[in-house]
Amino acid sequence: MVEISLAGKVAVVTGSSRGVGRAIALRLAEAGCRGVTINYVQNRERGLEVVRELEERGAEGLLVQADVGEEEDANRLIKETYDRFGRIDILVNNAGICPRGTFFDTPLADFDAAYKICLRSTFLCTKAVVPIMKEQGGGHIVNVSSTSGITGGTMGPAYGAAKAGVIALTKYGARTLTQYGIKVNCVAPGYVETEMYYTANYDVKVRQQRIKDIPLGRIAQPEEIANVVLFLVSDLSSYVIGDTILASGGRTT
Ligand SMILES: NC(=O)c1ccc[n+]([C@@H]2O[C@H](COP(=O)([O-])OP(=O)(O)OC[C@H]3O[C@@H](n4cnc5c(N)ncnc54)[C@H](O)[C@@H]3O)[C@@H](O)[C@H]2O)c1
Repeated sequence: MVEISLAGKVAVVTGSSRGVGRAIALRLAEAGCRGVTINYVQNRERGLEVVRELEERGAEGLLVQADVGEEEDANRLIKETYDRFGRIDILVNNAGICPRGTFFDTPLADFDAAYKICLRSTFLCTKAVVPIMKEQGGGHIVNVSSTSGITGGTMGPAYGAAKAGVIALTKYGARTLTQYGIKVNCVAPGYVETEMYYTANYDVKVRQQRIKDIPLGRIAQPEEIANVVLFLVSDLSSYVIGDTILASGGRTT
């Protein structure tokens, strides 16, 4: 029987008080992680709820408020995790926002915000964690991009461009960090049933059209993305390096 065990490992998941990040954190706990850091920006209550859910699964949860697009916050997130657990085996760069718009109406502020929260945060958290992982002799970094990072996307000029940068950072990370035992990979989901999906596709007709474009005929559940992350941080993905795994229900075909 094939089994995935992350027994004794420690993980940090950015933007994990809800949605895909929450599902990833819980899946890592179910696979045996002993410690998982939950990162939130504003909603402490929801973060605490996820910490309780982690405890139900036998893992210790650490809740850290941090805007991961800010260098000081990103450094503190990694430091507090290391101080609490004494090691960091897994970093999942999941935090993101998806501003809607077109070239005609997207304010520069939205473009900058998508860049900051999707891409700059991935750079900052990776930069903060790699000295620890190098010292330990290895670790896993999984970046959450999007099919928009490959196709350019449907939401506007800001999101797809930031998510394409995440794929490039993944490749650069793999090229330069694999020698230290640090494996960097990426998951690019299609539409996932979270608050982001409903905010970005607030119109029912738009949502119906989106589903028509998906060969599988439905959008993903957050747990289906978490399963891909679990594969990427497990021994089963030993030859997957610098790669982006799509989970799109066939949408990019
Ligand atoms: N939902 C989708 O259809 C979809 C599709 C493709 C990719 N994704 C990606 O999946 C990831 C998770 O998104 P989701 O669908 O769960 O949406 P979500 O809006 O439910 O979750 C995003 C999380 O990021 C957090 N966040 C935002 N700004 C932050 C900051 N500055 N610092 C720390 N955390 C911050 C939010 O608080 C939230 O918890 C994102 O990177 C998103 O781009 C989502």
